[in-house]
Amino acid sequence: MKVFCGALIACAMLAGSAARAADAPAGTIDATITIHADRPGATIAPEIYGQFAEHLGHLMYGGLWVGPKSPIPNVRGFRKDVVEALKRLGVPVVRWPGGCFADQYHWRDGIGPRDRRPVRINTTWGGVEETNAVGTHEYMDLVGQLGAKAYIDTNVGTGSPQETKDWLEYLTSPSHSELAQLRRKNGRDAPWRIDYVGFGNEPWGCGGDMRPEYYADLYHRFAAFAKTPDDAKPLKLAAGPYDDKTELTEALMKTNSFGDMDAITIHHYALPTGDWSHKGAAIGFPESQWMSTMQAALKMEDFIRAQTAVMDKYDPDKKVGLDVDEWGNWYDPSPGSNPGFLEQQDSLRDAITAALNFNIFQAHADRVRMTCIAQVVNVLQALVLTDGPKMVLTPTYWAFMLYKPFRGATDLPVDVTSPNYALDGATLSAIHASAARTAAGGLVIALVNIDPHRAAHIAATIAGASVAKVSGTIITADTMDAHNTFSRPDVVKPQPFSAASVSGGTLQVNLPAKSVVVLQLQRCFDSSPRALVALPQSAVAGRRAEGRLPE
Ligand code: AHR
Repeated sequence: MKVFCGALIACAMLAGSAARAADAPAGTIDATITIHADRPGATIAPEIYGQFAEHLGHLMYGGLWVGPKSPIPNVRGFRKDVVEALKRLGVPVVRWPGGCFADQYHWRDGIGPRDRRPVRINTTWGGVEETNAVGTHEYMDLVGQLGAKAYIDTNVGTGSPQETKDWLEYLTSPSHSELAQLRRKNGRDAPWRIDYVGFGNEPWGCGGDMRPEYYADLYHRFAAFAKTPDDAKPLKLAAGPYDDKTELTEALMKTNSFGDMDAITIHHYALPTGDWSHKGAAIGFPESQWMSTMQAALKMEDFIRAQTAVMDKYDPDKKVGLDVDEWGNWYDPSPGSNPGFLEQQDSLRDAITAALNFNIFQAHADRVRMTCIAQVVNVLQALVLTDGPKMVLTPTYWAFMLYKPFRGATDLPVDVTSPNYALDGATLSAIHASAARTAAGGLVIALVNIDPHRAAHIAATIAGASVAKVSGTIITADTMDAHNTFSRPDVVKPQPFSAASVSGGTLQVNLPAKSVVVLQLQRCFDSSPRALVALPQSAVAGRRAEGRLPE
């Protein structure tokens, strides 16, 4: 292949001296990857990296909301440190108020003066008092502060179509209707924009233990009355199944004749033991649970395939999305914590499985258009942990940060040939990968080595593009359960990665054991000189100035 990229050879030589296959440490495995830059797929929606914020344990109260009178620095009640950390990440969407809590939540409890809001019992999560201090106006303020899209999950389990209809009118109507005027009286003149509205949660379980056909009918009934102004229509989401259970997907797709369903949502949690009564510890776990957690997380691929196979039958044009609005690792609660609060530590293992999930979502970007990890602060696979005024960012937070270059990029198919990571008869491909073309024309590649012992040497061929100037960032640590604490907050954190080079048209990478690396590669132009002729003069000049084209 002829390469028309002045910088390429220099880059390759420079970087090549820094890292060669021959430098790979002993016990290294060899893997090969082909990235098909010539077969671009779907756009990776930024909302794939979304968040979930339920009224559960110390998530909303303590984790996000401390109230305007708190000594903890806050903006209108939301703690500054956490909001700032989430803003740095660029949270695209926040699902609220549940989860199971959504099906017991009545929005009228959460409007008006806070000191006059009713106190309820959070019967799902710990039986604690729900003060309703955070309600509609506070949540909309939070997403406003974050610059995130709003995703409200409405109450089907104990609510009514009228209640949902009224909430949407209260939120979105520019009119002078009684509900719009009530919103104004409560301090908000302009209507808000709601991007997603979900109808119920887990209807097969905490949402009401319904048959698929019954929920499908209810969905269409609720959705039919959920009216908003024509120029501000949210996407309507049906609460779907979990894992590979497809009966509910079938029932929903079969009955979508009016097209009032923009997406079906699914949930998948990875448990190390697969046993809900003893899930496994978040830290201090045996290697067998490293392996089983990887296996459980990777099931996401099978589950998305199972659901999309059903959806494809009814919707070959892929109008309806498959949004994974709850996913993550679920462990036994932190010792001494309220079991109803779902608090757990987060370690390197969680950063690795987050990366595996991102790779899967990206590969299915044609259907998967939004996901929400469970959950954003202090609950399950959290991005942020707090204790009073203290805050620490978790390895999962850093995995989200690492994958930022994928947002809005175009997915590229990747073939991986890798030795297995094997333990006690269980085997998994050691290397997992994802690649995309960014809007600026560069390539971004994610490589995960799940083998906790052996480094990997990876030779990657990029079909249809020439690349140069590789730079990278890595998350890894000495131990499988390495984690950040309030006193040692930087144990697991992204670091610059230099063991990658471009040589002879091939990308060479030495990937440490138990690590995830995201590489960014400057792309030259397609290998044909015709591509140069086709470039506008301004682009040619720009590329020459960057050293990417010969004079
Ligand atoms: O994320 C915790 C809970 O898990 C959610 O409320 C529920 O939807 C799921 O079962």
